Amino acid sequence: YDQIKPFPSKFLWGGSTSAYQVEGAWNEDGKGPSVIDMANHVPEVTDFKVASDHYHHYQEDIQLLAEMGFKAYRFSVSWARIYPEGSGELNQKGIQFYHQLIDELLSYNIEPILTMYHFDLPYALEEQGGWSNRKTVDAFEQYAETLFDHFGDRVKYWLTINEQNMIILHGSSIGTSSQDSENQQQDLYQQNHHMLVAQAKAMALCHRKLPNAKIGPAPNIAPIYPASSKSEDILAANSYTNIRNWLYLDAAVYGQYNHVAWAYLEKKGYTPVMQEGDMRILQAGKPDFIAFNYYTSQTVGESTGGDMDYSHTGDQHETVGEPGIYRGSVNENLKKTEFGWEIDPVGFRTVLREIYSRYHLPLIVTENGLGAFDQLEEGDVVNDTYRIDYLRQHIEQIQLAITDGVDVFGYCPWSAIDLVSTHQGSSKRYGFIYVNRDEFDVKDLRRIRKQSFYWYQKVIANNGLE
Ligand code: BG6
Repeated sequence: YDQIKPFPSKFLWGGSTSAYQVEGAWNEDGKGPSVIDMANHVPEVTDFKVASDHYHHYQEDIQLLAEMGFKAYRFSVSWARIYPEGSGELNQKGIQFYHQLIDELLSYNIEPILTMYHFDLPYALEEQGGWSNRKTVDAFEQYAETLFDHFGDRVKYWLTINEQNMIILHGSSIGTSSQDSENQQQDLYQQNHHMLVAQAKAMALCHRKLPNAKIGPAPNIAPIYPASSKSEDILAANSYTNIRNWLYLDAAVYGQYNHVAWAYLEKKGYTPVMQEGDMRILQAGKPDFIAFNYYTSQTVGESTGGDMDYSHTGDQHETVGEPGIYRGSVNENLKKTEFGWEIDPVGFRTVLREIYSRYHLPLIVTENGLGAFDQLEEGDVVNDTYRIDYLRQHIEQIQLAITDGVDVFGYCPWSAIDLVSTHQGSSKRYGFIYVNRDEFDVKDLRRIRKQSFYWYQKVIANNGLE
């Protein structure tokens, strides 16, 4: 390019967290347990009960975000803090906490971006079948309405469900899984259908109640590469793209099931049972933007069937393969993080282009970042230059995508502050702010600015110019 386009002047520079990974206070002030609290799916590492204790440190934390210059902060509401039983009786103290959090953000002119549901389904709902039970759709609708009623006067940006595609494809790694082990996959796609209906209802409700608010889905989207230029590998990559990415976004944006994904569901006998009117509900819920999380690309090749068709690819929590359709493959061209996740900044630009060309909606990145074993050095120094490199390379690619004509209005990397990783404990750190604790000892939970804190502060101050 002769000229690289600048970031828009109102670009939402920020960072992200989720309730169960950062808040702690897992059973305080009337909060009910969530599937995460009960699952113990990370038995070898510390649990999420204290996490970063943000529940008690939120003022100090938000002050630090303001010091970095955050324009936006993406957080999630813990459903079980609002409705300890998932539905029914409201917990006023839970409501109170989020009022305070939102007011605190606004006092620093930080735009709150609220995720309604980030993996932590109330356990009471899980006990009744979780998302396999259609009643969870009603519970979500009630919960959504409560959030709109209480916070809609101040929250303009809403995200429905975090990484619904990862919940379906890899739910066991976050403590949710199928209720019906015999028909596990079919049951998961039934859950998926219920989530799509719940999401569509929430989007329509948001527009009815809050005409000035904006709402969208927040899946994890990765570009899918073929393992070679062999036609069969390209076809496999195309199949996986539809099953992993577009199934979720086509339903959210067009209110339709992606035809390649649907053919896959039919072939496997996984098609969900629908109620009359479901497709109308899907079509009535329209997003205003697409939020998505990006960590890495994925590579797949042809699968001829058989046991060897499951293998690790791009990011290690994805074991990718579907005998006869696609098989996960390692991309030898990419470097890896300490945790074995492939690093692919150029893939970020590719996927920004792909999503925008397909849906023509404004995009916001709601997660992207590097998990690493940071070291706290003498004098409270954390020299996370590797994180700075990672983020710089990804921010450059956003700017190139903007130059390509993609409408991107915000970047909220993972994570604003250190928190407990989904399945790899608290020593896998992502934040700009170090939280002094380890897996087994919560220590003093002191907040320490990392090198990346000062670097990101400059990036925001000059609107990504350097
Ligand atoms: C995303 C999730 O899948 O990736 C986050 O939305 C999660 O909740 C993040 O923490 C990074 O994954 P992990 O397993 O390294 O924590």
